Amino acid sequence: MTKSFEITINKTAHSRQKEAFSKELVFGRVFSDHMFIADFIDGEWTNISVEPYAKISLDPSCLVFHYGQAIFEGMKAYKGPNQEPLLFRPADNIKRFNKSAERMCMPRVPEELFMDGLKALIELDQDWIPSAEGHSLYIRPFMIATDEYLGVKASDKYRFIIITSPVAAYYKDPVKVKVETYYTRAAEGGTGFAKSAGNYAQSLQPAKEAYKQGYDQLLWTDAKEHKFIEESGTMNVMFVLKNKKIVTPKLSTTILNGVTRNSVIQLAEKMDYEVDQKKLAVSEIIDHIKNDNLLEAFGTGTAATIAPISLIAHDGIDYELPNTDKESFSVKCLSLLDQIRRGQTLDEFNWVVKI
Ligand code: COI
Repeated sequence: MTKSFEITINKTAHSRQKEAFSKELVFGRVFSDHMFIADFIDGEWTNISVEPYAKISLDPSCLVFHYGQAIFEGMKAYKGPNQEPLLFRPADNIKRFNKSAERMCMPRVPEELFMDGLKALIELDQDWIPSAEGHSLYIRPFMIATDEYLGVKASDKYRFIIITSPVAAYYKDPVKVKVETYYTRAAEGGTGFAKSAGNYAQSLQPAKEAYKQGYDQLLWTDAKEHKFIEESGTMNVMFVLKNKKIVTPKLSTTILNGVTRNSVIQLAEKMDYEVDQKKLAVSEIIDHIKNDNLLEAFGTGTAATIAPISLIAHDGIDYELPNTDKESFSVKCLSLLDQIRRGQTLDEFNWVVKI
């Protein structure tokens, strides 16, 4: 039996939407009028409400500030043909959130609480969903440890919050990536598959070094030998070869199980591409480039959607990749994905949830 949760709704007296939409939207800088909040106290979810978006007050001793018990998700809402809000694969993000929670020793957020909170919030802030091409309402659910204590332990109290932000594309231009062969993102048995805040914090310094050398992102490799491709900074990666073949690193405990990755694989198969999910050696991709067999490389992610990669740097050599055009797989796949997310074509995979 599913438990129902009562959500208190406190609306803002002054919407900031019109002012926010009068400026050019970028990724993640402006936030919608409301946020969803729930607290986990004494083993129960309580204080469940939608509130006007505002700063939150926390004791400086809260465990999240010291030992980083924090996880998050990224999902998106779109406007359908009749202006109705549509969520893209929310159940998959909720499941992944709870896997991250388990790994970080945090409580599960009941699926119905998560979904009800999401729906209440998006319904209230539906005017914040931009409809221009490439735009959407980015949804950021997160959970933090709120015990006021300095001992190293799993917190007993948590706060779960959902905020939303009208966004444009995460990357404006094709991405230049550098294959990282010294620093490590994730090792077997670690937290690589989880969306834990620490995974991103520890990636910043290596990414900054790559940025100084003229690259936008890292292409992470395995922690043992630095020979196999894992994922890029904010996305999973895929490589399109001649003869309608796509290769991508197979999932493991060191790779995020991307919802966009999974969607692109399903769409690729529908478009008659053969997708090989494998332990993917960097040398294999470099050979494909040298043999003129690599047509495209791109990243997949909620924020990034499908982001073309224009250059791969490895061992001091910059390999420029071919430009994409309207016949490229990534361009056609993004267009199909976009039509599904906006309710403009048949949703044969049942990915879209109407609010
Ligand atoms: C997403 O794609 O939603 C992410 O969480 C990546 C990011 C850290 C912006």
